[in-house]
Amino acid sequence: MRRKTGIVPSTLMRMMCMLRMWGLGAGAWLVSGAAWAQKSFDDMPYKLDGGFDNPMTTISGITELSRDINRLYLTTTIIVTGVFFAVAIPLIYTLYKFRAKEGDDTPPKQLHGNVILEFLWTVIPVVLLVFIAIPTWQVIFKHDGVPARADAIKVHVIGHQWWWEFQYPDYGIKTAFELHLPENTPVDLSITSGDVSHAFWIPKFGGKTSAINGNINRLSWVTPPAKMPEVAGGDYYQGQCAELCGSSHALMRHVGVVHTKEGFERWVKAHNQPPKVETASQRDGEQIFGRCIACHAIEGTVSATIPGEKIGPNLSSFGSRSHLGAGTRKNTEENLAIWLRNPADLKPGALMPNLGLTEPEIKSLTSYLRQSTYKNY
Ligand code: CUA
Repeated sequence: MRRKTGIVPSTLMRMMCMLRMWGLGAGAWLVSGAAWAQKSFDDMPYKLDGGFDNPMTTISGITELSRDINRLYLTTTIIVTGVFFAVAIPLIYTLYKFRAKEGDDTPPKQLHGNVILEFLWTVIPVVLLVFIAIPTWQVIFKHDGVPARADAIKVHVIGHQWWWEFQYPDYGIKTAFELHLPENTPVDLSITSGDVSHAFWIPKFGGKTSAINGNINRLSWVTPPAKMPEVAGGDYYQGQCAELCGSSHALMRHVGVVHTKEGFERWVKAHNQPPKVETASQRDGEQIFGRCIACHAIEGTVSATIPGEKIGPNLSSFGSRSHLGAGTRKNTEENLAIWLRNPADLKPGALMPNLGLTEPEIKSLTSYLRQSTYKNY
């Protein structure tokens, strides 16, 4: 005999069972996803230490610009979520209410044109777009004013295949990969490219900006306060070229380094000091570097006196850079040797050729280049 209430509980049970399976599945998926993400960060050659933020994210912005952009995203998300429900709920209701019924073959009533409806679904999107446009304009005009500030630090940012160059016209500094900045200071970036199009982007600072040959785009932020004690060499915020620019696009990284004001002054003062050449190996390295000076310069040495633009990165204070090859590998003796043996092994398509250096030459050059560091001053 069947109990009267038998059907309802068993249907409920089945539904609950299904929900639980889905819940378990989603939970397992989330946990394994998080574990996978953590593992990939751990495996990255770019695994970061000493104050790097990891991973790159736009969600937790640290400049007013990035926070304002996030607020715009939030406003837009709230509006589109409202639109989604305003469309989805009547849609589901209509599908249910006017579904085909068994034995009823009458064709549905045909309707064409309804002035009120057409007017409404033109006006409502216009109103919504105005609600999105006004705060967007506010943010654009608010942040457009920063470059006009006299106390802003000016930096020329040049994208190259595949590395970023930073020139500080007021300090006579040219460097690569690391954009050093003092805390709580307005920064005025003039962004361009030496070859194809790139895009400059430090997600936590906000304001992804195209780097286009023959064109200058401006970007400005006020830097956040420094967090790390200066002894660690500032706070590092990862950036990444954000426009497909050739075979090593993914290996075209950069970092923003935020110092205390004193730390930044120290960096400016020491950056262009020539390397302290102390050992026989470093002296040999200095000699061998003579073969590199058509493309690279180190300030304070003969390489910097040759006129004309160099096609390779300026290597002043190279030894203090955290990474080499535009963030491809950590700047260690071992990795620099791998780079010098054949740059294309680390960065496919790199313009720097295999120089055919012998192992002893690589050893000497490595110790010379790594000695070139502002941390020695
Ligand atoms: Cu430069 Cu992608």
